[in-house]
Amino acid sequence: MKRLTEFDTLADPAFSSAVIDWQKRHGRHTLPWQNTRDAYRVWLSEIMLQQTQVAAVLAYYARFLARFPTVHELAAAPSEDVMAHWAGLGYYTRARNLHACAKRVVAEHGGVFPSDPALLADLPGIGRSTAAAIAAFSSGVRAAILDGNVKRVFARVFGIDQYPGVKSVEDALWRRADALLPEAGIEAYTQGLMDLGATLCTRSSPACERCPLQARCVAFASGRTAELPVRKPKKTIPEKQAAVLVLIDDGQVLLEQRPGSGIWGGLMSLPEVDGHVVRDALCEDALTRAAQQFGTVEEVQALLPLVHGFTHYKLHIAPYQVALSARAALPDNHLWWDLNKIEQAALPSPIKKLLIELVRPSLFP
Ligand code: ADE
Ligand code: SF4
Repeated sequence: MKRLTEFDTLADPAFSSAVIDWQKRHGRHTLPWQNTRDAYRVWLSEIMLQQTQVAAVLAYYARFLARFPTVHELAAAPSEDVMAHWAGLGYYTRARNLHACAKRVVAEHGGVFPSDPALLADLPGIGRSTAAAIAAFSSGVRAAILDGNVKRVFARVFGIDQYPGVKSVEDALWRRADALLPEAGIEAYTQGLMDLGATLCTRSSPACERCPLQARCVAFASGRTAELPVRKPKKTIPEKQAAVLVLIDDGQVLLEQRPGSGIWGGLMSLPEVDGHVVRDALCEDALTRAAQQFGTVEEVQALLPLVHGFTHYKLHIAPYQVALSARAALPDNHLWWDLNKIEQAALPSPIKKLLIELVRPSLFP
């Protein structure tokens, strides 16, 4: 008895038949880079279409070919001329790679694009999926594509509930893509996957009612087209806690000059209390000890905490209002600031906002 390999398990000839039949009936057939086996034209279109929609590519494609009709003209052109014909398409690394690729095709392959996807993928700007598309369209080579659109279709049809950007998930998708290749009709199949992804299985509103893969689509069957493919997991940004003292006495607030470097470097701020925070509340000891440097503590009262988002972390600020019955001599870098001039203090915006909200009732009774 023959053992089934993973490849056999993933294979499904009816999948490619459904895509090919649909492509023939409802796919795109008259795009300017179709109906040609000229690898130069196919290559140029695939590079332009890597990060740009068909509608935006059309005019550029025509102008580019008019100026550089073959790989030889392109390879021989000055780079400014190539860049000028790319200007406006965006992602300019593509244009620099395009020019470098043309030069290599002329120098290393006699001006003829190779048909082996591995050789194509060795050229600048041509990744595995683009190499497969060029080989399929220009030479009928059976090679699998897996661009963003195809990943979306596969993630939905097969109900892949892991983020496809993860290496192991992407590797598994490539194995599927290989196993699903048709024996014949690679051009219509490749174009069909692209057309399906671009016109039916769109990101935000897939037209499942018209889709040839509906009967085998896990996302459709389980009502998860909005959840699949799984989005890139957000980097968890670290959260930090800080307790600050709001010492208000005789119409003045105690401010501290922060060190020149670090967060809020060089600004003034409220004195920060070191010490461990338990369930958002700082140990009472640590608070009282910190406040006592500035005078005789009458009363400590927790104010509503605030949250401030920095680029690299989120800071939870727990303010404590402290009433003093007598002031002590101030440590270095501290000063009493008139509350009615709080607008002029060089304070970080969340701290200034906190103080303004706190004193507004007393400023405007
Ligand atoms: N996107 C990438 N390649 C394409 C092609 N050959 N036709 C339409 N859209 C595409
Ligand atoms: Fe995409 Fe819907 Fe087709 Fe599934 S049935 S592949 S979700 S268009």
